[in-house]
Amino acid sequence: MTVLEGTRVRLRPLAPEEFARVFAWYNDPEIVAPYDRFSVDTFDAFSAAVRAVADDPTSLAPRFAIERLDEAKVVGTVGYYRAHPVLEFMEVWYVLGDRDARGRGFGKEAVRLLTDHLFATTALERMGATCDVENAASYRLLEGLGFRHEGTLRSALYHHGRWHDVRVYGITRSEWAAKVRPS
Ligand SMILES: CC(C)(COP(=O)(O)OP(=O)(O)OC[C@H]1O[C@@H](n2cnc3c(N)ncnc32)[C@H](O)[C@@H]1OP(=O)(O)O)[C@@H](O)C(=O)NCCC(=O)NCCS
Repeated sequence: MTVLEGTRVRLRPLAPEEFARVFAWYNDPEIVAPYDRFSVDTFDAFSAAVRAVADDPTSLAPRFAIERLDEAKVVGTVGYYRAHPVLEFMEVWYVLGDRDARGRGFGKEAVRLLTDHLFATTALERMGATCDVENAASYRLLEGLGFRHEGTLRSALYHHGRWHDVRVYGITRSEWAAKVRPS
């Protein structure tokens, strides 16, 4: 079992008794997808996907719970997936389902732990992320960790009744290693 310890959050596998709470977040588009497309499976399909996630590098299911250390409670999830059939990088994603936990640095520390873990456990040279151009919390989190805005995909994502432009971010292994980050 992989557990990634930070100073304010720990990343660890979701426990089965936590699936329902996280699934409830996934049922609320304003929680998980204010800037993303929204779709949800049944609880059984969600649970099966979480249980099987380690075996599938392309899975979009949550890979780690974000546990807030001061309150010992799960406030969100992070994941990663192989985003392209040929190009070799992982795309990271992150959601704080507990809205009260937003804007306090928990998301940023969670993505720092996840990116550290991916560079430490793979031979990949690049990690990536994408977000809606209007999702300031997401792109500021990425930029604060040193991810570079590499370009913008026009009209690449349909949600809330219209097409949205999407920012593409990436960071290389050497950039990640060189970046000085507070612990
Ligand atoms: C995106 C998300 C995970 C960010 O996590 P968070 O814990 O709230 O963010 P942090 O407190 O770590 O802040 C990260 C940076 O974003 C900034 N920020 C946070 N919330 C912001 C907001 N609502 N608007 C603008 N900037 C914001 C912070 O000031 C910080 O920037 P800094 O490092 O330059 O000071 C969280 O807002 C969320 O779950 N949103 C809904 C789901 C989502 O959009 N996921 C990403 C899909 S691409």
